Amino acid sequence: MGRVKGKVVVVTGAASGLGFADAQQLAAEGAHVILTDIDEERGQACADTLDAAFLQQDVADEASWERLLSFVEERYGRLDGMVNNAGIAPIADIETTTTEVWRKTLGIHLDGTFWGCQSAIKLMKKGNGGSIVNMSSTAALVGIPAYLAYSAAKGGIRSMTKAVAIHCRQQKLGIRCNSVHPGSISTPMVHHALKTLVGVDLPAEEDPEATRIAMGVGEASDVAHMVVYLISDEAKHINGAEMVIDNGDTVV
Ligand SMILES: NC(=O)c1ccc[n+]([C@@H]2O[C@H](COP(=O)([O-])OP(=O)(O)OC[C@H]3O[C@@H](n4cnc5c(N)ncnc54)[C@H](O)[C@@H]3O)[C@@H](O)[C@H]2O)c1
Repeated sequence: MGRVKGKVVVVTGAASGLGFADAQQLAAEGAHVILTDIDEERGQACADTLDAAFLQQDVADEASWERLLSFVEERYGRLDGMVNNAGIAPIADIETTTTEVWRKTLGIHLDGTFWGCQSAIKLMKKGNGGSIVNMSSTAALVGIPAYLAYSAAKGGIRSMTKAVAIHCRQQKLGIRCNSVHPGSISTPMVHHALKTLVGVDLPAEEDPEATRIAMGVGEASDVAHMVVYLISDEAKHINGAEMVIDNGDTVV
């Protein structure tokens, strides 16, 4: 307990799946967490369960980042951790992806992560540095045909992360930036994918270990533990790294 005690950490897309699990685990380890999400009702409800702050935010809207910066600065006076997690995963390949879907996907993932890194650095520079975690995917490492725009966006997040990490080190900002690459993790996003692509319905009361073994699907907490580590000072020498959480999917 207390691995991120007293740290002020923003998690985007925190009203569901991995974002909420990250927020829960960070709060359990002593952080002051600010949850943001485009879905105000679910986001506020999630924040209430943690007695944490919530701000409605569309990460693809630049103005929303200015509002978030002001909110965090006024309320906490500093920022120690930023988890750029919000995302969508439209199912469409190179022949079926429309320009609208392409732009929306890149807008949320790439613009959102770009503004998330830029905003975080502005605030972290005024304090004692910090840690940025960008949620990428194994799609960035191998490319998934059914997720064309998503694969492109996650690949962009992977290399953007390294460029940010090197910049922060060269400028001696005391800010680290790493990417996390989950494989399939049991969240609403993956439940939808399994149903649409392979016709599998995961039961509401699934047995996580059975699902892991039978289908190679992990739990949100598997990712949240990594996020806590990267935000914590335990990871002070980890910068520009890509942390793969896929039980070997991309190794074989
Ligand atoms: N679940 C997986 O297996 C998996 C694997 C690799 C990467 N990821 C990534 O992890 C992140 C979270 O995925 P998840 O599985 O928890 O999905 P999810 O659908 O359960 O949650 C995504 C959250 O992002 C929010 N969101 C969507 N668009 C937004 C926007 N424009 N602004 C702010 N919030 C927005 C949604 O409202 C939702 O609460 C995503 O970036 C996803 O690509 C997930």
